[in-house]
Amino acid sequence: MDALAPLFHRVRCRYMKPGEEGRVIDLIIEVFKRSVAPGYSPGGVSEFLKYARSDDLLKRSQSDHFILVAQTGRDIVAMIEIKKYSHISLFFVAEPFQRKGIGKTLLKRALKICRDRDPWLREISVNASPNAVGAYKQMGFEHRGPARTVNGIRFFPMATTLRKSSFFS
Ligand SMILES: CC(C)(COP(=O)(O)OP(=O)(O)OC[C@H]1O[C@@H](n2cnc3c(N)ncnc32)[C@H](O)[C@@H]1OP(=O)(O)O)[C@@H](O)C(=O)NCCC(=O)NCCS
Repeated sequence: MDALAPLFHRVRCRYMKPGEEGRVIDLIIEVFKRSVAPGYSPGGVSEFLKYARSDDLLKRSQSDHFILVAQTGRDIVAMIEIKKYSHISLFFVAEPFQRKGIGKTLLKRALKICRDRDPWLREISVNASPNAVGAYKQMGFEHRGPARTVNGIRFFPMATTLRKSSFFS
């Protein structure tokens, strides 16, 4: 049996609490460095690291963003940040916990929050890093135009149409 299976059953999704932003940023940076940074230019890496600062994460979570985390035991093993109830701005799962359904669970929870707030919401968008395009496709996202590079960060604009997607029903 998968050694992580007993832990996985105890994964809990909830809002990030003030005071946890440092742990969440540590998770983001660890995963970013291994999974995302190898596909970025040095300028893209430093631009991303400017966005991924704990004080800014906390400030955003207290304005027009919300952040959910997945916790197992005392560990925060995944996070998702949603901007203005309609755009994924950060989405990271710790490597040993990837491809076990945690990302999908967090995303579904986040989309329910967005839809509860606006039942007419049509789309959720993301600027997907190249390494994550396959995962987003599996989660019902489609391309919305060609790859772009802004401030050294290369991404694919993608979105999922909520009314069409069976993934979120
Ligand atoms: C992208 C990410 C958040 C997905 O989280 P996850 O917990 O691994 O995803 P899940 O296990 O819930 O998988 C969801 C679906 O995507 C698929 N998937 C996951 N990773 C994949 C990959 N690298 N390539 C192709 N498909 C993938 C799964 O098979 C699953 O599909 P299924 O439901 O048809 O079986 C996670 O892999 C991650 O943190 N990646 C590195 C950081 C990153 O790139 N973040 C996105 C920045 S825009």
